[in-house]
Amino acid sequence: MIAVEAARNAGAIVEEYARKGFRVEHKDAVNLVTDADKRAEQVIVEAIRRAFPDHQILAEERGQAGSTSPYKWVIDPLDGTTNFAHGFPAYCVSIGVEYQGRCILGVVFDPTRQELFAAEAGGGAFLNRTPLRVSRASTLDTALLVTGFAYDIRESELNNLDHFSRFALRAQGMRRTGTAALDLCYVAAGRFDGFWELKLHPWDTAAGSVILLEAGGRLSDLSGGSFSIYGKELVASNGLIHDEMLEVLQQS
Ligand code: IPD
Ligand code: CA
Ligand code: CA
Repeated sequence: MIAVEAARNAGAIVEEYARKGFRVEHKDAVNLVTDADKRAEQVIVEAIRRAFPDHQILAEERGQAGSTSPYKWVIDPLDGTTNFAHGFPAYCVSIGVEYQGRCILGVVFDPTRQELFAAEAGGGAFLNRTPLRVSRASTLDTALLVTGFAYDIRESELNNLDHFSRFALRAQGMRRTGTAALDLCYVAAGRFDGFWELKLHPWDTAAGSVILLEAGGRLSDLSGGSFSIYGKELVASNGLIHDEMLEVLQQS
């Protein structure tokens, strides 16, 4: 399958940069990009173009290439760039496919652990061929939660710190991994019970959202409305703690 092959190839390239060295550029004060991001994206885009020349592609570092095809590939070549740049081994390649505006396929590859998360709508979710299922934690009290903070944290008042402190007093534990695509996969795998974030991009969530739903999870925006990869807000959970999470998010 092209998506799996492309994710594995891009992951191998990222690991080669991790071993041999890379250049870091600043998109702004805290948002980084490296030549590993750019090269990984190029390899993925070339593979898609070879196989499906008419498909649309939306990729983080190059933006959207237009066509009228009902298929759109949504790519984050390296999710967790800050981790990668610091040598902290939590990052992945994320490739999702939309058909007529609906996410139908997701592949997320973690090259540091050789973990491949994949799902097709209606076909279940898998981690290296083992079926995935969300956890059974039924209260926040017993839940391990994860979140993230957007790059405008220094400028914006909508910085998620208030939600973070409220959840910290309610959950069993809190984590901030720095890779939203893997956060979604970890909820799908039952490693986390819930995840929320306020300012995500389509490439952060396209693949992981299919994987989470196929593993039996629930997705919404912060008010419990329907989730869209273009909507920025996301609450992802095992389903059982979702309403309790929404209640905490809606307190002000
Ligand atoms: C970031 C990561 C991080 C999340 C940020 C994203 P990047 O993506 O997913 O976990 O908190 O909102 O922008 O820049 O490493 O691809
Ligand atoms: Ca990302
Ligand atoms: Ca990225």
